[in-house]
Amino acid sequence: MLSFSKKNSCARLGLALAILWLATTPAAAWDHGNLNDYHDRRARLVRETGDGLIVLFSYNEADVAASTTQFRQNENFYYLTGWNQPNAVMLVIPHTLKRASAIPPVTEIDREILFIPPHDYRQEKWTGPKLGPDDPDARAQTGFAEVESINLFPQELQEALKKFPKIYTEMTPQPESGEECFQKEMVSKLHKLAPLATFEDMRPLLTKLRSVKSAGEIALIRKAADASIEAHLAAMKAVRPGVWEYEVAARMQYEFQRRGCEWPAYPPIVGSGFFSTVLHYDQDDHQMQSGDVVVMDVAGSYSGYASDITRTLPASGRFTARQREIYEIVLGAQNAVIAAAKPGMTLGRGKGGLYEIAYNYINTHGKDQPGQPLGQYFIHGLGHSVGLNVHDPMDYNRPLEPGMVVTDEPGIYIPEEKLGVRIEDMLLITQDGVEVLTRRLPRTPDEIEKLMAEK
Ligand code: GLY
Ligand code: MN
Ligand code: MN
Repeated sequence: MLSFSKKNSCARLGLALAILWLATTPAAAWDHGNLNDYHDRRARLVRETGDGLIVLFSYNEADVAASTTQFRQNENFYYLTGWNQPNAVMLVIPHTLKRASAIPPVTEIDREILFIPPHDYRQEKWTGPKLGPDDPDARAQTGFAEVESINLFPQELQEALKKFPKIYTEMTPQPESGEECFQKEMVSKLHKLAPLATFEDMRPLLTKLRSVKSAGEIALIRKAADASIEAHLAAMKAVRPGVWEYEVAARMQYEFQRRGCEWPAYPPIVGSGFFSTVLHYDQDDHQMQSGDVVVMDVAGSYSGYASDITRTLPASGRFTARQREIYEIVLGAQNAVIAAAKPGMTLGRGKGGLYEIAYNYINTHGKDQPGQPLGQYFIHGLGHSVGLNVHDPMDYNRPLEPGMVVTDEPGIYIPEEKLGVRIEDMLLITQDGVEVLTRRLPRTPDEIEKLMAEK
């Protein structure tokens, strides 16, 4: 649906909150205490210094990512290496076969080298044992024929440039990942090491490759989706008036992490009442009221592969007539997309595409309070590719192909009625249609009410 700039997760926080869920009555939203205390601290600082200005900058999101989150690999690097440790470089040197039998000529790998840091045994006391380039199992553990110390990268690169004075690398940030500076820094590093080389951005090619998933990737996405379905099933039994949104978010994180997900695939969104209409609502700090609907857009990531699932529930366990009406329209749009999706269709907003099918359905069913069609309340795209990133890179005009995994997530958001409904499922494109990877999770209002009544 949307792009997140925060890619971090709160695994430990999630578990801690889950324990709170089990053990205590939850506290209210964030407590800042007495604001005079902060003033007093500033006054103390002025007393202690006294001869100059005091200037301090808040963190921005990138800084927080660097200082407080678990390490996550550069996705394209991971996609090409499966290597999940920091400070590594990959160098692949091609070789063109000139044999007469190879027409057109075939280019294959001559050498592929993974450069990793040498052991730092002091550091390993803090972060645990790491693989070193000289370890006997370095090749088996990485799948690279050659594993060398990162210190040897400059000289290996110089050698390779003698044969190929051109470098393909990532030169532009991946919009889906929130990256801003990383590529710039890396490219400038490479420019210094190879001032005479020509450069070409390999992001478009990687976007193309990553769009179609392998069987192994699909298996991991299924695991992420299955664990997240369990999280939604648990949430359906937990939602009721008086429960805090963060309790449900924590419970869901607990459920998918205990099934092997390493972290949320994106910051969990649990929004009740008016907040059901806020697309990126991840504060999750309101208490559910009877009469609210609750949008739960929450899912985990399994061995790096994301899932992305949304369900909308009535906090009381029963939809009102109006909530049910809007819900049925979103469901109808989603079903129309499931029926039409197949290789050759497009996901984006182009003519005859799946977005148009969903939009037209919504715009021709139901009305808002002033009597206008509802298309204006479908305010985001229909879906996106899912893979290493929850918003995996994709060309939205490219026709769908078997092996693509995309979301189908229409929504209607009417703030005046404090009524937001989104239903989001994951589709695997097959030879002649789709497999709904998340079909096990109830979607109809009747199924949802029945499950909620079981708590
Ligand atoms: N959970 C993010 C999205 O639906 O796109
Ligand atoms: Mn989505
Ligand atoms: Mn989502």
